[in-house]
Amino acid sequence: MLQVSHRDQNTLASTKAIILVGGPSRGTRFRPLSLDVPKPLFEVAGHPIIYHSLKAVAKVPGLREVILVGYYDEGVFRDFIKDASLQFPNLRIQYLREYKALGTAGGLYHFRDAILKGKPERIFVLNSDVCCSFPLNEMLKLFEDKDAEAIILGTRVSNEAAPNFGCIVSDSHTKRVLHYVEKPESHISNLINCGVYLFATECIFPAIRTAIKRRTTRPRLVSYPSSENLETSFIAEDDEDSQRPEILRLEQDVLSDLADSNRFFVHETRDFWRQIKTAGSAVPANALYLQQAFQAQSEELTPPSASIVPPVYIHPTAHVDPTAKLGPNVSIGPRAVIGAGVRIKEAIVLEDVEIKHDACVLYAIIGWGSKLGAWSRVEGTPTPVSSHSTTVIKNGMKVQAITILGKECVVGDEVRVQNCVCLPFKELKRDVSNEVIM
Ligand code: GDD
Repeated sequence: MLQVSHRDQNTLASTKAIILVGGPSRGTRFRPLSLDVPKPLFEVAGHPIIYHSLKAVAKVPGLREVILVGYYDEGVFRDFIKDASLQFPNLRIQYLREYKALGTAGGLYHFRDAILKGKPERIFVLNSDVCCSFPLNEMLKLFEDKDAEAIILGTRVSNEAAPNFGCIVSDSHTKRVLHYVEKPESHISNLINCGVYLFATECIFPAIRTAIKRRTTRPRLVSYPSSENLETSFIAEDDEDSQRPEILRLEQDVLSDLADSNRFFVHETRDFWRQIKTAGSAVPANALYLQQAFQAQSEELTPPSASIVPPVYIHPTAHVDPTAKLGPNVSIGPRAVIGAGVRIKEAIVLEDVEIKHDACVLYAIIGWGSKLGAWSRVEGTPTPVSSHSTTVIKNGMKVQAITILGKECVVGDEVRVQNCVCLPFKELKRDVSNEVIM
């Protein structure tokens, strides 16, 4: 934690945080789980994805206000905000809804009056779909040390994975960002944008305004490369959405301009970082947050024992037979019932799931209210720790590495489900592998 003097408290009090939560149409790769819950509220390590970002924000000294910006319906975050406000009483949390998707900078600009209320000097901007240790205080320190206009959180990935992200070329000595390219076509750097920023308010809003002016005088001819269309190989040159002048992306429209100033710096984290895009990516995110909680000796986790290989989270209302063996990296949701002799490893079991005796669940997500029969086996394939993908190549074909059962699926006794994605309400009576069950 930063040590802060009384004088600094006042300065730090003028920092706010914005979490970009996106909206329903963006959750398509998170299917089938996003059919039943908005992605930011999906639970990993016992808490909604955005709870983990809020927890980090709550540790920034003097930060009092968090604004979730997105285009989900008004009511979607109501209960979450109510609960989170009790857990983080030092934070005022509100949700501001864009009338339609305005892009990562468009929403910020649209709500600039609300954001600038109280005259904050700095704003943190966090993508909601990343899992990391959020070293916000280190970013704040770099911001102060360099008298910066902007700080971006960066991490190193393999050269192969880098073009799926925003790439940063920096001066390794001064940490200054020299060049920024969003999802470049050829290799420029393996230091990538983690989707976490700290901006001086006096700099970011004028920078967005400049981008708006440029868009009006010089509209784009091709669409933005988003990871959505990279994944599906769909290059939307005539995609109406990306052509709308009100859509503004921080990454494509603003960050490369900031790199032209000499007050844009990168804080490179060596701690964990992952994107949460596909439903399968919730499994590594669950593991990473559980490991973080274990290192912090969190009392939320179940103590290690002969049948608990840490880290494991079991909701207090779940019932786990003492002969079941769980872990590592397992979360068990509310009211789940886990029978005798069950084995669960690297998995998320959601609320009201029932798993009968001697079943085995590995590298999988078991959807709300699903039922697994006795001696059944639901399993995915482990992905390398360093991988930023949740698919693997098998017999020359790309297959899902994590097996996912949607809400209220039923797996018969002794049935084996391997590397599959199963839509809600399906009943599996025979063995299946490498299939999407619709
Ligand atoms: N409020 C709001 N409005 N949020 C949005 C909108 C919008 O119109 N569009 C996207 N978001 C949110 C998403 O919910 C997500 O949290 C974040 O902004 C980024 O989403 P994408 O636009 O899909 O970008 P990306 O994930 O392909 O790439 C971004 O994140 C990577 C790190 O995860 C870029 O910032 C990359 O440079 C970066 O490497």
